[in-house]
Amino acid sequence: MRLGYTVRASSSMLRHPRQGVERFRGRVDRRQDQREKEALRVAPGDYYGAVKDWASCLHAALGLPWPCPATSSFDDVWDKMIGDLHAAGVRVGMFSYGGWNDCDRAFALAIWCIVAHIHPARVVETGVAHGLTSRIILQGLERNGTGQLWSVDLPAVDSALHSEIGMAIPKDLRSRWTYVPGTSRERLPGLLSELGEIDLFVHDSLHTGRNVRFELESAWPFMRPGGAVVVDDIDHNLAFAAFGQRVRPAESLAARHVTGDGLWGVAIKAAESPLPSPEALRQGNRQLTGPRGAARAESLRAVEANPHYKKALGPPTPTVRGQRHERIERAVVREIAYELRRLTLGDCRLLQIQAGNGEQTLLFRDQLIRPERPVIYDLQDARDPEASGQTDFAAVDFEAAQFPAPDDHFDLVVWNRDLVTLKNVVPVLREARRVLRPGGVMIVAVPNLAALHNRLLLLAGFQPSTLHINNGDHVRGFASLSMTRVLERDLGFRIQQATGVGLAPISSAAQPRSLRTLSHTVVWVLREPGGALPASRPAV
Ligand SMILES: C[S@@+](CC[C@H](N)C(=O)[O-])C[C@H]1O[C@@H](n2cnc3c(N)ncnc32)[C@H](O)[C@@H]1O
Ligand SMILES: [Zn+2]
Repeated sequence: MRLGYTVRASSSMLRHPRQGVERFRGRVDRRQDQREKEALRVAPGDYYGAVKDWASCLHAALGLPWPCPATSSFDDVWDKMIGDLHAAGVRVGMFSYGGWNDCDRAFALAIWCIVAHIHPARVVETGVAHGLTSRIILQGLERNGTGQLWSVDLPAVDSALHSEIGMAIPKDLRSRWTYVPGTSRERLPGLLSELGEIDLFVHDSLHTGRNVRFELESAWPFMRPGGAVVVDDIDHNLAFAAFGQRVRPAESLAARHVTGDGLWGVAIKAAESPLPSPEALRQGNRQLTGPRGAARAESLRAVEANPHYKKALGPPTPTVRGQRHERIERAVVREIAYELRRLTLGDCRLLQIQAGNGEQTLLFRDQLIRPERPVIYDLQDARDPEASGQTDFAAVDFEAAQFPAPDDHFDLVVWNRDLVTLKNVVPVLREARRVLRPGGVMIVAVPNLAALHNRLLLLAGFQPSTLHINNGDHVRGFASLSMTRVLERDLGFRIQQATGVGLAPISSAAQPRSLRTLSHTVVWVLREPGGALPASRPAV
């Protein structure tokens, strides 16, 4: 029996190596999720604020009264489905399909009601197994007399279980159903692009933070205004909370399973959505290359999907040179947002130095878990009204190198690009380190004096563009290798990550490590030695 399983599982891994990698990655990610949850030191139910009267809350969120007439038909649908599965000899419940659970009754009822109330034309789900959620959705579509379901599902590694896939779905419902085999990473983006717009998304596949984040970030731009995402097992990681903080759905709630003590959640998109079209996002994503392309694509969406961030990314420029510069600026902001999200910092006190209109600060804040009110230091207060309302400000003379904060005050400091405007950089970077607490993170981005285009310009006898003569505010140039040395040796930071952005004039995307020394701008993620990451601070 065990030998049979080993042979079948190995053959599946060999036939589908990418899926094998994804299965392995899932195990690693689970451990990471566990660490992040432990660092919060709050029970998931409290963290997510699970509600007991979820049914009335859900209906209120949909603008409907409770109790609702659709629920009366659910009991029969559920009981018949379980009866059919038992009759077919299938064990239903926890760990019934290669270690996976069948769906929970409360989760199914929520989906049943949402299908009844929003009348979806296109539903996408991930995770089929025996197909309980699929059947509930399909039966709801049948009841509505309209709608189709697409289900992305990685078949069990043990092929002996494949005959059980979708067993809960009777033949007469299958005309509305398309089974899409493979991991959500492989199949979801293409499927969503094909469909263009969806009305409902249900996640019940691999419950790691990385996968949930990927699925929700992929689906949300395609979600129609007023549509919903329903996510199972949100207590396994922090992704549903981070997603809610970022996209700020019109409504969201978390509730408990009937079986076990797991949690599920719903987020409803605002009826009037200001998000850009999926096509615009796809255009943007094509610019992303490099080994972490997919993750960066997520980050791009984070930055560009939200209209609030338009100002953070700067106004459109008419000249070709200006546009190239703007593309690189955007890539740098994206890269910083991406690194911040990867760090999953909790309860974080953020300082941004030289933040201009302050919109970038809001963007960076939104990548953090339960951030505190950010602080901006600049020569003058140039914040726009939105940033003024949501940040604190202090005017600072950087050449005097004295920050108005006690030692170890901030958990995170971001300094994006404007270091080139200061003469005395070392004392002021020391000051930044002084106000950063041990274990805190500092992100510094500066244009690279040794970038390929600057080397070519000098070779031809011209001024490097980072030190252009006309614009007198750039008084400093930093070659990436020398700057790395100064940050590490002279200032005592620990370098966690250094990424090159934009190999001008070719591209604006982040570069492979080997090209970093030639890239337009370098982004350093630095740690102040000692102490733990901000995520490990106890919650208040
Ligand atoms: C919890 S079960 C789904 C239960 C199902 N919704 C139900 O109600 O019966 C999870 C399913 O997701 C599949 N799966 C695992 N990793 C996946 C991935 N990366 N992408 C898509 N599906 C995945 C599993 O093989 C399994 O079939
Ligand atoms: Zn209802």
